Amino acid sequence: MESPLLRDAYGRQITYLRVSVTDRCNLRCVYCMPPGGIQRLPHGDIMRFEEIAAVAKTAAAHGVRAVRLTGGEPLVRKHLPELVRLLADIEGIDDISLTTNGLLLEKFAKPLAQAGLKRVNLSLDTLQPEKFARITRGGSLKDFWHGVAAAEQAGLTPIKLNTVVLRGVNDDELLALADLSRQHPWHVRFIELMPLNNRLPWGEGFPSPEDAYFSIQMMLQRLAPLGLEAVAASAGNGPARTFRLAGGQGLIGFISPLGEHFCQFCNRLRLTADGNFRPCLLGDLEIPVLSALRRGEPLLPLLQQAVGMKPLQHELLDNPNRISGRCMQQIGG
Ligand code: 5AD
Ligand code: SF4
Repeated sequence: MESPLLRDAYGRQITYLRVSVTDRCNLRCVYCMPPGGIQRLPHGDIMRFEEIAAVAKTAAAHGVRAVRLTGGEPLVRKHLPELVRLLADIEGIDDISLTTNGLLLEKFAKPLAQAGLKRVNLSLDTLQPEKFARITRGGSLKDFWHGVAAAEQAGLTPIKLNTVVLRGVNDDELLALADLSRQHPWHVRFIELMPLNNRLPWGEGFPSPEDAYFSIQMMLQRLAPLGLEAVAASAGNGPARTFRLAGGQGLIGFISPLGEHFCQFCNRLRLTADGNFRPCLLGDLEIPVLSALRRGEPLLPLLQQAVGMKPLQHELLDNPNRISGRCMQQIGG
């Protein structure tokens, strides 16, 4: 018998699984985490590689084709290439990607590529070393660029750079960041700040979290002098509107959960590091899967339940002031 595809209540087919492999991070970005970090999950509550692979295998048997690894920072999880290898061996999975802050990528790009990783998305909020250190609370921009170089050399392309745009912090760098897509075959994506659990003051020199929001409309206005050419959205670009600069080698995208939401195209399901399906990034509903897996129960019903619980659109549209219980670091973006 044909395996049923994973279709939600609104007819959207789920083909993409985002897996958070750890809640830990080597950075503390101001918009992602409180200064003291967050309470870490106990080791035993974190999914083992074999358990993640078991979930991915069931998902792949029902139409999931792409897996993205996230964190926290996924590269702080030990032996990550081993997980990539397990996933690459699953029939049906043909795209494995990674979202990373890039600081450890110099060391891991090659072994990850050899294990079957296809490409990486890197977070880059500023081109200024001192500002980079302030936003990330201690990160080195030099290490970041070494990571990008290693990723290119290992063929983890196309390289995508994610920029969370913050008013009064990096909105003055939009043109310079966009220009990277002209000089390099990179995809620069500007992201609206999401109101997750990041409402505590960010520290000296930063705007209040409420004031930092910068809308996609404002971004487009700022970038207008560069002459953005619209590019037809292609599969794999995810929930982004895509443009090109005249003569540019790469692309520019906008990810706008609030200003212009993209829920109608949502094809994804998330798995948290402690083994819960999360039907929607911006909804706190979760379905425990790890406990069931460890009891030897079948995965498919849980997978179908999680897919069936995907909302038509996220709740923030009805109530933008709702604050999610988990930090981005605990969900993986
Ligand atoms: N709003 C928008 N993007 C965020 N990220 C982390 N926290 C937020 C937030 N509150 C981004 C990171 C990274 C990706 C995983 O999510 O910068 O690019
Ligand atoms: Fe770490 Fe990413 Fe959060 Fe920054 S945004 S603290 S790199 S998980």
